[in-house]
Amino acid sequence: MAQERSLLLIKPDAIQRGLVGNIIARFEKKGFKIVGMRMLQMTKELSKEHYAHLVGKPFYPDLERFVTEHPLVAVVVEGKEAVEVVRLIVGPTNASKAPGGTVRGDLSNSTSRNVIHASDSKETAEKEIRRFFKPHELFDYKFANAHYRYAADE
Ligand code: PPS
Repeated sequence: MAQERSLLLIKPDAIQRGLVGNIIARFEKKGFKIVGMRMLQMTKELSKEHYAHLVGKPFYPDLERFVTEHPLVAVVVEGKEAVEVVRLIVGPTNASKAPGGTVRGDLSNSTSRNVIHASDSKETAEKEIRRFFKPHELFDYKFANAHYRYAADE
């Protein structure tokens, strides 16, 4: 089965609002396997690397202040078509326009305080996972009930 990995950052607003469990539960219930998870303090340097494509935008100073003000939780999930399916569960960047049932649609009404970041392509996911996790912080293990999650040919 073609398994993919994607990176989630559960942002400081979600931690401050007590939403971490609610957010992680959605990915678990969908069937994704958590293969890495750590709390960290984003530094200004790490923010400039992670959001390199946004450093020149007028909103970048606020984004950097926001993501470096409090800790966040980084999670790596694994599963079928993980990058695309995770983005569907997360919803669009502007949470005001995010459909109900998505993480952002249910939990935020903002573009900047939108509770979660998710990788936007397989290539980005690989880079982002390496950015936040060392190889020994990622775990290869099997679900004992994998046959209840996917058929053998999926
Ligand atoms: S873009 O505009 O398409 O390049 O943006 P995108 O890569 O989808 O993500 C933008 C990230 O910046 C955060 N952010 C804002 N975006 C737009 N407007 C404003 N004012 C703004 N403030 C912060 C937004 O939450 C996205 O963060 P991530 O963590 O990537 O979801």
